[in-house]
Amino acid sequence: MASSLTARMAMPRGAVIRLADSPESLAQAAACEVLAVLEAAIAWRGEAHLGLAGGRTPTALYQALAALPFEGWSHVHVWFGDERAVPPEHAESNYRMAHEVWLAAAPIPASQVHRWESELAPAAAAGRYDDALRALAARQERLVPALDLLLLGMGADAHTASLFPGSPLLDESQADRDADGEAAPCLAAAVHVPALDTWRLTLTPATIQAARTVVVLVAGEDKHPAFRRVLGQTPAAIDAPAVLLHHLPGDVAWFVDRAALFGAA
Ligand code: 6PG
Repeated sequence: MASSLTARMAMPRGAVIRLADSPESLAQAAACEVLAVLEAAIAWRGEAHLGLAGGRTPTALYQALAALPFEGWSHVHVWFGDERAVPPEHAESNYRMAHEVWLAAAPIPASQVHRWESELAPAAAAGRYDDALRALAARQERLVPALDLLLLGMGADAHTASLFPGSPLLDESQADRDADGEAAPCLAAAVHVPALDTWRLTLTPATIQAARTVVVLVAGEDKHPAFRRVLGQTPAAIDAPAVLLHHLPGDVAWFVDRAALFGAA
């Protein structure tokens, strides 16, 4: 497939911007990246753990993944970076979106699609997802599980996953400790978002930071001011949570369209 990317720019700390001419070419290019990372993970570890982004921007990517040939789906586990506190059949559900445009027809065993039980009370849903992630960590012999690839988006307020500006989850002084005072990071959390007056379910910074590769999808002129702020890195993560993605130990690739990067198509 001819690359539809027009540029590849280096960012501080090794992150990369992959600039696409349009949201459609961004989805195609990101789909190729996803398959390449999954293929390598399966070759290396026999299985791959993929975290999905919510919102609207990834829809075209999931449609592209549904259309591209890939023999490794039976070795893939699907997780969700965040979810709205609504049942899975709700129009706002990130699970529903991914299921309808891709997962329902994908040859991924249902037992390997790890959705948030968002029909439960937020704290209970977060607790169950934390347990599932902790079980993965135990299998990986790690304190925090490492997703092979985590897809994220970014809001016009520079939020990512459901880490919104001012979120208590971004307050590092709140580090979690177990009964012996050992670091026991929380892996999944329920958080009330005052700006939306709603509850959200989200991977915590600890789980996001443990991902081996992160692909951030940013499209549209409305994202331009926030993206420039994040590029500038000046704001603290508490004000512009997507800045967090600059400080990841793993690989980070920002797939952006012209409108997001330059402010006009
Ligand atoms: C969600 C997301 C969120 C999303 C951004 C961008 O559940 O809403 O996970 O972090 O990625 O809000 O959303 P759009 O792609 O719809 O602009």
